[in-house]
Amino acid sequence: MKRRDFIKSGLAFTVINTLSPWSHLIGKEKILNEELRRSDFGADFLWGVATAAYQIEGAYQEDGKGASIWDTFSNTKGKIKTGENGNIATDFYHLYEQDLDLLKQLNIPIFRFSFSWSRILPKGTGEINKKGLDFYHRVVDACIARGIEPWVTLYHWDLPQALEDKGGWTNREVIQWFKEYVTICVKEFKGKVKNWMIMNEPTAFTALGYMLGIHAPGKKGVDKFLKASHHTAMALAEGGRTIREIFPDANIGSTFSCSYIEPFKPKKKHQKSAARIEAVMNKFYLEAVLGRGYPFKDFPALKRIKKFMKPGDEEMLKFDLNFVGLQNYTREVVKYSLFKPVIWANQVKPEKRGVETTEMGWEVYPESVYKMLKIYASYPEIKNIIITESGSSFPDTLENGRVKDDKRKKYLQDVLKQVLKAKKEGVPVNGYFIWTFTDNFEWAEGFKPRFGIVYVDFKTQKRYVKDSGKWFAEFLSK
Ligand code: GCO
Repeated sequence: MKRRDFIKSGLAFTVINTLSPWSHLIGKEKILNEELRRSDFGADFLWGVATAAYQIEGAYQEDGKGASIWDTFSNTKGKIKTGENGNIATDFYHLYEQDLDLLKQLNIPIFRFSFSWSRILPKGTGEINKKGLDFYHRVVDACIARGIEPWVTLYHWDLPQALEDKGGWTNREVIQWFKEYVTICVKEFKGKVKNWMIMNEPTAFTALGYMLGIHAPGKKGVDKFLKASHHTAMALAEGGRTIREIFPDANIGSTFSCSYIEPFKPKKKHQKSAARIEAVMNKFYLEAVLGRGYPFKDFPALKRIKKFMKPGDEEMLKFDLNFVGLQNYTREVVKYSLFKPVIWANQVKPEKRGVETTEMGWEVYPESVYKMLKIYASYPEIKNIIITESGSSFPDTLENGRVKDDKRKKYLQDVLKQVLKAKKEGVPVNGYFIWTFTDNFEWAEGFKPRFGIVYVDFKTQKRYVKDSGKWFAEFLSK
């Protein structure tokens, strides 16, 4: 878990240093103390909730679906902390209409969800499973019928197992496999779905899945990670080009994990450690797609990736996204470490710093969103930012049909104040999606961490709107 937090981390502390002289000019206290109103964000600001196929759908072998790496991984003993799996998850496959009714009742205008590659192409490539496409047609149609806008992520970590058997993201052919899958999806849905996210958090799935082995497919090693990373970055840009070619008017984005990273002390060695962490965790994929190449300057050891690059690749990494999806949950404090070769950095854990944490052990630090927004806005190439995930997990309890999740409600309000502050300072942030709608399967952590604004009793699959959900609905109604 701790390692995972770290993966979602990063910091351009040099950029922060450049920005910090402004901070005294900001009337921040005012915004932070005022009551939030939806109208303050402007009429065009986008509001939604975000989900992912493997975390909610279940029906893992139904209607011709092929196995994904997450089916394999979660059904392998010892991989999921709680011993659970996502075979049923929140049974969204069967309960989507009911869930979307609830979404509408809560006044939520946008539903972000992902397509499962192996539901559409059971072997990852080749034969199409019509029943898989039909399911997504039903979901998209159900959204549209309720006046909810569907935002589709094409890849949220569930690679078809058949492709993993051929090396998965470490096989360069994956760029073509991904292109084939993207082509099918976009051709099929372009009449109904305008908003597309190519991939979700590439840093997280490549590092956790191919370097640390704590997520599917459970592989380990620096070279595996670098190889998978380069192919992922290539596939991301190629996926973007493919969507644009088929559907020039599509609104195309991709989502990136980031955490504000602070050097432990303002000393050169800690700052350099923080810069290396930031290079891997925050800059790697983002700067590649922006056309800046990989961040070798901050972290020269990354040059090792060059052995997996072919002539002409560097130019192919660039794609002009319509929006950048920023996903932030916390900050990290980083210090120099003699015991971590190559990266020479270590996390100063929240427990050691005595700060408040969520159930994931992540520091409660809403300012991180503001700081990351400022960093993203400092890239001249970024013109449109949507916060495609933001949320928190706290131990919720259902009492007499009610979940009093005051901490989550406060977290959301505090984060939104930070978003508003950034927006008022000119950051082009144009949307905010809560992670997540209903409680769901939190990857290697199982069902224990609850991130939803709607509580799920996993035994009965009954849903209960938490106090945070009620607050959000009311906020959106004004
Ligand atoms: C991720 C994913 C989500 C997680 C969420 C909470 O960022 O890891 O996009 O699937 O569930 O972030 O950890």
